[in-house]
Amino acid sequence: MSGGGEPTRAAGSVGGDDVTDEHPLPASGVSAGNEPPLVRVRAPGPEARAWLARAAAVGAPMGPRRSSDANDGTIVYRDGLGSNVFDVDGNRYVDLCGGFGAQLLGHCHPAITSVVTSQSRRLLQALGDVHPAVEKVLLAERLAALFPEPGAQVILGQSGADAVTAALKTAVLCTGRAGVIAFQGAYHGLSYAPLSVCGLRESYRAPFEAHLSRDVTFAAYPADEAAATAAIGEVSSRLRRGGVGCVLIEPVLGRGGCVVPPAGFLGELARVVCEAGALLIADEIWTGLGRSGAMLRSVADGVTPDLVCLGKGLGGGVPVSACVGRRTVMREWSRDAEVVHTSTFAGAPLAAAAAVATLTELASWGLAERAELLGERFRQRLRSALGVDRVRGRGLMIGVDVGGGPGTAVTLARRLLARGYIVSTGGGRREVLVLTPPLTIAEELIEGFVSELSGVVAWGGS
Ligand SMILES: Cc1ncc(COP(=O)(O)O)c(C=O)c1O
Repeated sequence: MSGGGEPTRAAGSVGGDDVTDEHPLPASGVSAGNEPPLVRVRAPGPEARAWLARAAAVGAPMGPRRSSDANDGTIVYRDGLGSNVFDVDGNRYVDLCGGFGAQLLGHCHPAITSVVTSQSRRLLQALGDVHPAVEKVLLAERLAALFPEPGAQVILGQSGADAVTAALKTAVLCTGRAGVIAFQGAYHGLSYAPLSVCGLRESYRAPFEAHLSRDVTFAAYPADEAAATAAIGEVSSRLRRGGVGCVLIEPVLGRGGCVVPPAGFLGELARVVCEAGALLIADEIWTGLGRSGAMLRSVADGVTPDLVCLGKGLGGGVPVSACVGRRTVMREWSRDAEVVHTSTFAGAPLAAAAAVATLTELASWGLAERAELLGERFRQRLRSALGVDRVRGRGLMIGVDVGGGPGTAVTLARRLLARGYIVSTGGGRREVLVLTPPLTIAEELIEGFVSELSGVVAWGGS
């Protein structure tokens, strides 16, 4: 199958519901890597087993020791192209996980591979805050321009956790208050500052509790109006008690299971936070850069946060992240006589060049709009095919709540892998299939997935 480079045809009807073709789907700019799955060898095949044994010998286990049976359903990546992944056993998959949402443009997008090649011949590292490279400046300019107010400023990092750390530190500098309000089910990375504010699973925090800030309040993340009113009340009363420097929120809960808060919630939150003289930090590491159908979901929802965190897809597969904020907030970094926050590779030219190319590609093909439209069609298809209202999300950030006991989505994800679809799982009990394909994916692949999913799902919890 090809056709990713052409405007894909509008869908017909699936499962009885008409999927609108009023707005033709914009072209993605990608003409390769939109092939259907081809699974020849059940995972893990012989090549994968050999690689997994080597990996187990030298990689720290990072979880319960796995028997070889537990490797069932594990593949080893060899190549990637567009929406396809090829494993070491010669299988071809459709990637609906997209590097945990980070492959906005798909694997090995030519705009990224060509800029990485040319940059790697010129300069790989400059000297961060001492002697920056041109690419660092260009990237910071592009990121500042994404912010809805003029004069925004940028701190670059390598991971999402770096960006969140920079935002939390900025809030302390700016307000002099260390208290944070975060949300249950939210995920912001696992280095110590982000771990302190991680509301997703207690198991992430428990072994390290002694190292974590205690000045964190977790409010409930609202999925409906009543919960939104309750959450605003909870946040307001904590703000009134004092000591809170910032409120940190994912505009759509990502790893927590693609929960979309009701319209108006973010605006109301921004209002109470501003009244209390605290800062609002939008963690858009997952939602941002088109993934949720807008370059910045918070801004599309009518809010200007004080600080925005970006990461994941920013580098087109190369690690880079950013904390972007109002000038009046960022200027607090200049009050110390010394530089008090930096890292060796922050703003490294290779990653910065890749990020500039990613931003250019997202803008020139209108991929945020494409994600909004295609995501809506994807959800409609899922709803009509599955016959239940378990589907949620925004843009190409989609959660399917499969119900049942803990881990039900993990079982389903394995079955889907056996049929050639890579998906991830989320939610507090891993009960949600999380679908975050490249924004460039061909619509035909989504149609194929929906019919495969309806075949494998035994609704009712098994
Ligand atoms: C919303 C959000 N914030 C932060 C992070 C942490 O990013 P990283 O894994 O690059 O540190 C993630 C990762 O999934 C995320 O989803």
